[in-house]
Amino acid sequence: HKTLFVTSEAHPLMKTGGLGDVCGSLPRALRAIGVDVRLMMPAYRDAKAAAGRLRPVARVAVPRLPEPATLLEGTLPGTRVPVWLVDYPPAFDRPGDPYLDPQGQPWYDNAPRFALLARVAVAVARGEATLPWKPDVVHCHDWQTGLVPALLALERERPASVFTIHNLAYQGLFPADMFGSLGLPASLWSLAGLEFHGQMSFIKGGLAYADRLNAVSPTYAREIQTPALGCGLDGLLRHRADRLSGILNGIDVNVWNPARDPHIAAPYSRTRFDGKRINKRALQEMCGLPNEPLTPLLGMVGRLVEQKGVDLVLGAWPALARRGCQLVVLGTGESAYEDAWRRERGRHPAQLAVKIGYDEALAHRIEAGADIFLMPSRFEPCGLNQMYSLRYGTPPVVRRIGGLADTVEDANEDNLASGRATGFVFDEERPEALVAAVERALALSKQPDRWRRLVHTGMRQDFSWERSARAYVRLYDMATEQRDRSV
Ligand code: ADP
Ligand code: GLC
Repeated sequence: HKTLFVTSEAHPLMKTGGLGDVCGSLPRALRAIGVDVRLMMPAYRDAKAAAGRLRPVARVAVPRLPEPATLLEGTLPGTRVPVWLVDYPPAFDRPGDPYLDPQGQPWYDNAPRFALLARVAVAVARGEATLPWKPDVVHCHDWQTGLVPALLALERERPASVFTIHNLAYQGLFPADMFGSLGLPASLWSLAGLEFHGQMSFIKGGLAYADRLNAVSPTYAREIQTPALGCGLDGLLRHRADRLSGILNGIDVNVWNPARDPHIAAPYSRTRFDGKRINKRALQEMCGLPNEPLTPLLGMVGRLVEQKGVDLVLGAWPALARRGCQLVVLGTGESAYEDAWRRERGRHPAQLAVKIGYDEALAHRIEAGADIFLMPSRFEPCGLNQMYSLRYGTPPVVRRIGGLADTVEDANEDNLASGRATGFVFDEERPEALVAAVERALALSKQPDRWRRLVHTGMRQDFSWERSARAYVRLYDMATEQRDRSV
C-alpha cells in the first residue's frame, strides 16, 4: 500500500499524549513491513524546529484562504519515514500546546486550522498537489483529521479511508455556523453526517464516512458501542459495527527500554535486575523523599483529567499514606486537580512528591524507580503507561477497562499459579477499590519469589509494534474492498 498518514501529533515533532507516541512509531513499523507510508501533520513552530532539514515541495490552494499552503518535506527524526509539514504560518506558527492558547482555552480558530489540514490532505490524496506520489489509502487519527474521510467520500475516484479512534471523548465540536464559514459542501450537513445535536462535529466526519474504523484496543472498540462509554456516538458506532474493529497499540521498545534508557540512573533487565534498586534510590533523592529502600514507592504519570481517575487516587491517598507508602505524581491538566495535589504535598512532604508539568525524563525515571505504577482510569482507549511500566518491571495497578483490561493480567490465585499474572486489576470506580488493589500488591511484594515471577512475566510481554502493524495492513485491505463496493 501507499498510505498517507494524517495526524496532528507525531513524536518527536509534537506530542501531548499517547496519540503522539503512536503516530511517531506506527509509521516506522509499517515501513519496516513494506508499506510506503508518508506522514502529514501541521507545521507547528516546535515541529518545524524539531524536524531538521526541510524543503518546500508543493503549494496547495485551499478554498477561502488568501494564500496557498506550503508542503515542507523532511523525514521523521530517527526514521526513514517521509514527512510533509503543512505550513501556513497564521494557523500553525505558534509555540507551545497545539490545541490550547496560553490561557488554557482552545484556540479560537481550531476549526479552520484543522479544516485546513484536512483540505491539504485531500488535495494530496486526489493527486492535485503536483507531487510524484499518490496514496491508495488515507489513514486518519482522531477529531483533528475527521473532515478528511468526509471530504473524500464525495469523490468519485478516491483512495480508501481508515479512521482510528484514539479517544472518543474529544470530538471537535463547534457552533453550527462554523460549517458555513468553512465552506464545506452542503451535503455533509445532516444527522447522518457532521451534525451532532445542533453542533458541527469533526469526529463524526471520520466515524460516519470512513471505509473502515478502528479503536486502539479490542475492549474499547466494544465499549464505545454502549451508552455508558459511547459519548453520545454509540448509536452511530453500533450502526457501523461491521466496519469497526480494535487493534491494540504497540510501544516503541527502543525508546522504552530499561536496558538502554539514557534518562535513568542505572540500566537493568530481567537477568540483571539490580539496577532497579539504584533507580528507586535516585528517584527518591531527586524528589526529596527519604531514601528508604523498603518503603513502597508508588508512581503515577499522566494527564490530570477525569479520564485518568485522578480523583480516585486523591481519594485513596490518605489511606495509602497511612499504610506508609510514598507516591510520586507527574502530570498536568485541570487546575483543580493540580491544586489538590499541591495541597496534599503540603500535608505529606515526607511521603508525597508532586511535579506539575510535562517532563519526559522524569516520566522514564518514575517508570524505572517506582515499585508499583498506578493507572486507575475511568475509561482508557488503550493506555501506554501501563505497558511501559510492565516493561520496566514496575507492576501496574489498573481498572478493568479498555486497553488496561487487554494488557494487564490480574494477580489472582489462578493467574499466579499458571504464571500469567502481570499486575493488579480492580473493577469498581471507588477509592476503596484502588486501596484494596494496592494492598494486594503490597502483600504480594512481601513474598519475594512470587513477586519476582510477576515482575518477570510483565517484563517479558511483547508489546512491540510489528503485530499491530500487520493488523493495520489487513485493515487497509478491508478498507480498499469496502471502497470498491461503495463507488
Ligand atoms: P493519553 O494519550 O490518554 O494521555 P497514554 O497512556 O496513551 O495516555 O499516553 C500518555 C503518554 O504521554 C505517555 O507517553 C506518557 O509518558 C506521556 N505523558 C503524559 N503526561 C506526561 C507528563 N506530565 N510528562 C511526561 N510525559 C507525560
Ligand atoms: C488516547 C487515549 C489513550 C491511548 C492513546 C494512543 O490519547 O486516551 O488511551 O493510548 O490515545 O492511542
